[in-house]
Amino acid sequence: MPSSSDAGHLPRHLAIIMDGNGRWAERRHRPRTFGHRAGARAVRICIDFCLARGIPALTLFAFSSENWKRPAEEVGALMRLFMRTLDTEVDELARRGVGLRFIGERAAFPQEIRERMARAEAATAGNTGLVLTLAIGYGGRWDIARACRELAAEAAAGRLDPASIDESLLASRLGLAGLPEPDLFIRTGGDMRISNFLLWQLAYTELWFTQTLWPDLDEALLERALSDYARRERRFGLTSAQLAGGGT
Ligand code: IPE
Ligand code: IPE
Ligand code: MG
Repeated sequence: MPSSSDAGHLPRHLAIIMDGNGRWAERRHRPRTFGHRAGARAVRICIDFCLARGIPALTLFAFSSENWKRPAEEVGALMRLFMRTLDTEVDELARRGVGLRFIGERAAFPQEIRERMARAEAATAGNTGLVLTLAIGYGGRWDIARACRELAAEAAAGRLDPASIDESLLASRLGLAGLPEPDLFIRTGGDMRISNFLLWQLAYTELWFTQTLWPDLDEALLERALSDYARRERRFGLTSAQLAGGGT
């Protein structure tokens, strides 16, 4: 059986939709926010796992552009949870060599959260043990539209030749610029959809779905995802024979 610890088969970048907090709480007859708090524990498990296994990049979908439309009490509770988590976890992450980044529309967040995000990024800048990107207030369509707007403005100002706009230039203006595209995508919570996560970057990512709700995440589940990933053949449009070096 192929081992998921084979470095050749380890994802260089893992992207996760952390879904199912609300249902986890509802099953326990507790408010949805109880599930979000439990979800924060699962985030720690996931970070520890990536550090231990040597996965160099982890991107977590924590709050989507569309999640702003949830009831105000839930959004407020999530904001307080982000703030508390940033206050309590950033020093420890910095000490462990984690570089923290945020992607998403920051203008929508309260000033006190924006300041904490900037401080967290500054405090962990240059750390390369694990590049941890939190997608918050993030939407894949927003990201692509924002990059296009930036390029269009440069073209209109005469600083950019529209003919030079290609896939790699556009990719270089997206939130995850500089990181390899995710090799493995995981979604917990049982739904099989992308929900406006990394639309551009997931083009050739291996997708892995589980019924497990995010707060129930454990190492064994991540191991299972990794060993399934290690067994897949990624063809990128080629034939198996080509990949085996057998020509056309
Ligand atoms: C994911 O869990 C966390 C956020 C979207 C903030 P949900 O809150 O979507 O939980 P379910 O999907 O309703 O169970
Ligand atoms: C996706 O989950 C966003 C995050 C986990 C942050 P949602 O719960 O918002 O997605 P849908 O509504 O089920 O598609
Ligand atoms: Mg959900």
